[in-house]
Parts: sequence; structure tokens; C-alpha cells
Amino acid sequence: MSKKPVILGIESSCDETAVAVIREKSIGGAEILSNIISSQIDVHKEFGGVVPELAARSHIEKIDIIAQKALEVSNIKLEDVDAIAATAGPGLIVCLSVGLNFAKAISASIKKPFIAVNHLEGHALSPKLNSDVEYPYLLLLISGGHSQYLLVEGLGKYKRLGTTIDDALGEAFDKTAKLLGIEFPGGPQIEILAKKGNPNRFDLPLPIINKGGCNMSFAGLKTAVLKIAKNIKEEDDKYDLAASFQRTIEKIIYKKSKVALEQYKKIGNTNNKFVIAGGVAANTNIRNILTKLCEEEKFDAIFPPIEFCGDNAAMIAVAGLEKFKLKQFSNLDFPAKPRWALDENAIFLKGAGVKL
Ligand code: KG4
Ligand code: ZN
Repeated sequence: MSKKPVILGIESSCDETAVAVIREKSIGGAEILSNIISSQIDVHKEFGGVVPELAARSHIEKIDIIAQKALEVSNIKLEDVDAIAATAGPGLIVCLSVGLNFAKAISASIKKPFIAVNHLEGHALSPKLNSDVEYPYLLLLISGGHSQYLLVEGLGKYKRLGTTIDDALGEAFDKTAKLLGIEFPGGPQIEILAKKGNPNRFDLPLPIINKGGCNMSFAGLKTAVLKIAKNIKEEDDKYDLAASFQRTIEKIIYKKSKVALEQYKKIGNTNNKFVIAGGVAANTNIRNILTKLCEEEKFDAIFPPIEFCGDNAAMIAVAGLEKFKLKQFSNLDFPAKPRWALDENAIFLKGAGVKL
């Protein structure tokens, strides 16, 4: 049996320093040999958000230790790695540069290919870590910086069907958490508080719910939450607001996903697979509501395992593996790209005056 390719993946686009080693499986998919993540929550907590300079410094301090650990845990020697894949964008340029330069240096020293990976493509392909999902599929990518419906036709082949016209969904969770006085990063905490509250207590808006196809808007929710949060006195009110927010998001995502599934079928796709990925895909109720929708619409709902929803290097290695198989290597002068859309032909749909 021929040796299966081993990929070292590196992620440093925001506030997670992560390195993973994976190996292609003979039956498809990938075996995760190690997946080390060092989060910087403590570094940024007191500032209520990610401070780019501090994040970059922390990546510089830790990247070689994390890489060493990833190799140790995987039991793979550096010279046995077949390619180095690293996130080249989108993200904070000072952070991206750390992982990218580190990856290029390893690649040059061991004379193995370097593969630049789009962070969003890492999320898009993250279900390949536990299933062998075939193209094409519909993707809902919901993270801290992006919320999009995409038709995934193949590696590197994306058509955007819908996007947020203002805040990303993760950002909406984080901003709501901040208004409720929850420490950064608050998104996951909202889900926990919501379980203790009454989801019908507050009536929150459902922006552009019946127009704009599967485009989404979340900024109006933040304003509505702010008004209510100002008058909150008891802990129970806080739980009710978190629960009402969570329920409102579920309604929006259910409706918009239904529209996206229709659109996906209308353009002739018969592979009924709906992949939901990105940090917010860890939210249990969102997983449940989309599983229900898929049952109704006869689609398979496919989620990455919870631990691979948030930023990690295994998903970067998986995207790297797919590119490796097609010999899509990158030159060592590949730049860090703070902006890098999956569908580079999609028009910009943000800000006041957007026509839907
Ligand atoms: O994909 P990710 O780790 O980083 C980006 O690429 O942005 O996503 C992070 C986002 C944050 O906004 C975080 O609050 C949100 O995902 N998030 C959640 C949950 N877990 C993470 N939002 C809602 N419920 C969760 N359980
Ligand atoms: Zn991400």
C-alpha cells in the first residue's frame, strides 16, 4: 500500500495559535494525528475584544512550541511531512504573517511543498474531517466574521447565494453578550444563559425576513437588544433576553436556510447535502433547527464535530490535503491576504443603501 500523504496545518488568522497533523485515510477523509490549539482569551479579555498587536505577539511567542507539540503528539517526524499548509487569509494581517512565514520557513528547510489556504475554505471543508461529503453541496458558513450561503461546486469553486448585509452572526452573538455584561468571547455563553430563560418574553425584530432572498441582516437585533438591556434589573430578565435572542436567531436561520435550499435546487443541484460550518455551528439549538429543516426538505444536514466548528488547524490541513491531491502548491512569495472571499465574483453587499 502506498504511503498516504501527511499534512502539517497551521492557523494564526485571529486569536488562536493552532497546529495540526493529519494523514489521508484510504477510505476517504482524514485521520487527525494531532490538533493543538492555544487560545488567547486571557490576553484579550480585559479589552473586550481581540487586540491585533497583542494577538500577533502571542502567536510569535507560541507558534514554535505548538508546532513542536503537534509533531510530538502525532508521532510524525518533520521530514516525514509531505506538505505544509497555512492560513493566508482572510484575517488580521499581523497575525496571518506569523503562521504564514513560519510555514514558508519550514517548507523551504525541509524542501516540501507549501500550500496557502483560505481560512474560509478550511471551515467549508471541515466536515471532511469526519465524513466523506461529495460535491456539490450547499454551505452555510457562520462565524465571527462571516455569514454566507454558498454553493460549493468543488475545491476552490464557490458561488455565493446569500450573505449578511451588516453584522456576521457570531458578531451578533458577541455584541448581544457584551450588552448583557458577559465577558468576551460571549457568544457561547448566550447559548448557556438562554437555556434558563423564557424565549417568548421579548419580541425582537426579524430583519429582512421576507425579502432579499437568502441574504441576512442582524444589526437591527443589536439595537433592539440594547434598548431592552438598558432597563434590565434582575438576573431572570437577562436569561429571558438571551433566550429571546437565541430563539429569534433560530427563526431567521430556519427561514433563510429554507430559501437557500430552494435556490440550491432551482439551479439544478440534486445532491441534497447541506453543510453547516464555522464557530456558530457549535450552537446546539441551531444544529437542531437545521436538522429539523433538513428532515422536512429531505436533505442531509452535515456538521463538523463540535470541536472543529471554531478555529483550528486540522481544517486548514484538510483543505491543504485536498489541494495537495491536485498538486495545487503555492509559491513562497504568496502574500497574506486580509481580505479573501471564497466567491471573488460576488458583489459587495454591505452598508447603507444596499439594494436587495
Ligand atoms: O469560526 P470562529 O471560531 O472564528 C472566526 O473565524 O470568526 O467563530 C467564532 C464565533 C464567535 O463570534 C463566537 O462567539 C461564535 O463563533 N460562537 C458561538 C458559539 N460558539 C462560538 N455562537 C453561538 N453559539 C455558540 N455555541
Ligand atoms: Zn474561523
